Amino acid sequence: MIVTTKKLFEHAYGKYAIGAYNINNLEQTMGLFRGNLDSQAPFIIQLSKGARSYTNKKMLEGLIRSAEEVFPEAIFAVHLDHGDEQTCYDAIESGFYSSVMIDASHEDFETNIAITRRVVDAAHARGIVVEAELGQLGGVEEHVSVSEADAKLTDPKMAREFVERSGCDSLAVAIGTSHGAYKFSGSQGLRLDVLAQIQQALPGFPLVMHGSSSVPQEEVERINAAGGALKGAKGVDASKFREAARLGVTKVNIDTDGRLVWCRVHREFFRDKPAEFDLRPPGKIFMAEYARFIADKNDKLGSAGQLEAVRQMLAAESAR
Ligand code: G3H
Ligand code: 13P
Ligand code: ZN
Repeated sequence: MIVTTKKLFEHAYGKYAIGAYNINNLEQTMGLFRGNLDSQAPFIIQLSKGARSYTNKKMLEGLIRSAEEVFPEAIFAVHLDHGDEQTCYDAIESGFYSSVMIDASHEDFETNIAITRRVVDAAHARGIVVEAELGQLGGVEEHVSVSEADAKLTDPKMAREFVERSGCDSLAVAIGTSHGAYKFSGSQGLRLDVLAQIQQALPGFPLVMHGSSSVPQEEVERINAAGGALKGAKGVDASKFREAARLGVTKVNIDTDGRLVWCRVHREFFRDKPAEFDLRPPGKIFMAEYARFIADKNDKLGSAGQLEAVRQMLAAESAR
């Protein structure tokens, strides 16, 4: 069942965070649904602009609609990740997404508010909710490149005004993380102190943490031992997710870690079986490993085991 992120956040706020996982293909889709059902977790599927154009946006839509039929128990939101204004309108008009992210965080404060407000008006008219971003993460985002040195953390004092004037339903905050496999260069780290100030400014308002992959060292070592060359890769300490959830984070974005699982499985498979060329044997291993990976993340986020309670909340609301 596809629901809005708003519904999922109402249940999660202050208690746990929902995993928001990026997908690009069939194998990720299968692993994602299996992993979330194995761990009985509600979840968010997110599609980036790059994922939508990897084949054709209709292909991912078709995969997700089929997965909904194959796994009728699943409760999830379908979210556009890092949309620009036009991509948001396209997603809103498609009728498929329950949630979109407008990322105008690279614009000045007033322009960010104006663009976000336009997207919010269009989305709300169709019952779709909007995530916006204030502050800038380090690393490379889809249509904007921000150097680590220029990365700007969210200003807690501006956050309240931004939310009130833009009308967004959740806010992505920059608290020290960055996208990709190379986070926290030099003395950087996760700034839960800044998160606490943002929560004080916006009590009860759902916050989103991007760039939240953990980049497990064991995964990096296995990739390198199988021919990879990931040097100095580093991620977010997953044991901090629960604390972030208590401080108002309801959505935690994870993409890179899933790519590392894919990379490790395929590198090891073809290293150990050099005469193989069938795509399905490593694909099957990947789906099982990805499902395990998702279930493990959900444990760390606290979303594991929450599916039935979310179902009951939705049922109680629809009976009213
Ligand atoms: O924040 C970016 C996400 O990891 C999506 O990555 O644009 O390469 O699909 P992508
Ligand atoms: P990672 O690169 O840390 O997985 O972050 C993903 C993300 O923020 C997607 O929006
Ligand atoms: Zn992101």
